[in-house]
Amino acid sequence: MSAETRPTPDPLAETPPTVPVRTAAVIPAAGRGVRLGPGAPKALRALSGTPMLVHAVRAMANSRAVSLVIVVAPPEGVAEVSALLSDYALPERTDFRVVPGGETRQESVRLGLAALPEDVTTVLVHDAARPLVPVDTVDAVVEAVRAGAPAVVPALPLADTVKEVEPVAGGGPEPVVATPVRARLRAVQTPQGFDRAALVRAHETVPVDGEGATDDAGMCETLGLPVVVVPGHAEAFKVTRPLDLVLAEAVLARRRANDGY
Ligand code: C5P
Repeated sequence: MSAETRPTPDPLAETPPTVPVRTAAVIPAAGRGVRLGPGAPKALRALSGTPMLVHAVRAMANSRAVSLVIVVAPPEGVAEVSALLSDYALPERTDFRVVPGGETRQESVRLGLAALPEDVTTVLVHDAARPLVPVDTVDAVVEAVRAGAPAVVPALPLADTVKEVEPVAGGGPEPVVATPVRARLRAVQTPQGFDRAALVRAHETVPVDGEGATDDAGMCETLGLPVVVVPGHAEAFKVTRPLDLVLAEAVLARRRANDGY
């Protein structure tokens, strides 16, 4: 090809995208976690000697995409949680901030979002109560948001069949109302991932009703935004009951044996 016929290079074609892509994780950890029984607040319970919250923060920071983690702590516990995070080794490339939470999880997430710097475009919301989510799951959620989904949830198929019932006050036998087709059901986990503007709009629009929303993706659904599912992971289970602590310790022991985690 002669110099005359060579197509003129398009200067724009070689310019990398200029839209900043910065991902932050918000960890609501302002709950009391009464179902675990008496003792320290759930997020501060130790798993293999390290507080559950520290495991959850590390799980987010393990993703190279996550450059900031905002922990939402009980208002009276902000200083304690800040001190705790500085006591444990956390990856240097990730910043941490601790902000006071609210009365409900929904309010705590909203307060975490309010603390995000302007340049954050993708937000993960992750329960402190899911300390062991593997990094591959976190990365899959981030990638799906970056690929254009406004809201992404990791989820798993169910082993149990699910019945919808009419609750009966006083604990009598509850009539079954419906049996959804199990193959169409998914149990959702965290981190859930969002386009920041979409999640902020959801929190500005959906009022706190009673105990508030327990699922940020559900708030986006209320707004009519598409929500997509990526594969979750068995180790992203929620530590809710005393037996979950035993399972979490077992997972950590296996990781230590396998790779010195
Ligand atoms: O109580 P539950 O396990 O559903 O709480 C889910 C998450 O929301 C937990 O990580 C808990 O610390 C957090 N939460 C919060 N602020 C509240 C209540 C719960 O950050 N007021």
